[in-house]
Amino acid sequence: MNHSTVKPLSVHSLADMKQRGEKISCLTAYDASFSALIDHIGVDIMLVGDSLGMTIQGHGTTLPVTITDMVYHTRCVSHARQRAYVIADLPFMSYSTPVIAAKNAAKLMQLGGAQMVKLEGTRPDIVSFLVEQGVPVCGHLGLLPQHINQLGRYAVQGKNRIDAEKMIADALRLEQSGAALLVLECVPASLGKEISLQLGIPVIGIGAGVDCDGQVLVLQDMLNIGTGKRPRFSKDFMQHAVSIEAAISAYHEAVKQSLFPTLDHSF
Ligand code: KIV
Repeated sequence: MNHSTVKPLSVHSLADMKQRGEKISCLTAYDASFSALIDHIGVDIMLVGDSLGMTIQGHGTTLPVTITDMVYHTRCVSHARQRAYVIADLPFMSYSTPVIAAKNAAKLMQLGGAQMVKLEGTRPDIVSFLVEQGVPVCGHLGLLPQHINQLGRYAVQGKNRIDAEKMIADALRLEQSGAALLVLECVPASLGKEISLQLGIPVIGIGAGVDCDGQVLVLQDMLNIGTGKRPRFSKDFMQHAVSIEAAISAYHEAVKQSLFPTLDHSF
């Protein structure tokens, strides 16, 4: 890609991709060197996920990650970015009220250079408050890693019809509150499809089946350099690749052509 002519993606570019049925590729990124590589390959979104608590900091969960950590890594990623859209996670307890959420979203955007912030769960009050202040928001439903101490384990969510209906209603409420994007984690593929069809905003799946509007994976999982067990919904793209660049390109192409995830990586 010739960076002198690169047009940066905006929230509207992502909405347009959904409208024309083009799949959206997304990977987590936490530093400038991977940011430059992922951006160069043409991946559409870089998510500075609080998964960095595990992948970078070596914790067992995302809970110890602070807003200071998130600002630091978001700044590293956004400095090296040319085209990809940069989303940063609001970490655990950094959005317990609308005002606290706005203060921390401002840090991610003003100091970190994020273009959108992501928050877990159904908090339409916070989403609408942030949107009123000019902050684009990505919701996150399904498996919520920040709730691991309530959940007890990382498991597929929305498996029965009552839970699935609640998730659909929650997704619609987030969209009505002004969310511009939704991440859907670890749900049956049929539910991923249903939510993607019902929502006008793009739905980015991780373990949510091939019919979502886009896909996201944790970088270390798909390069098979994670410290823990790779989740079933992820895939080792290094297995048949000659380089890290080739592995990331293979992932990007597989998402664009709806070749990933397969049934082996779905629930
Ligand atoms: O923190 C993260 O990397 C995420 C993805 C798992 C979607 O939220």
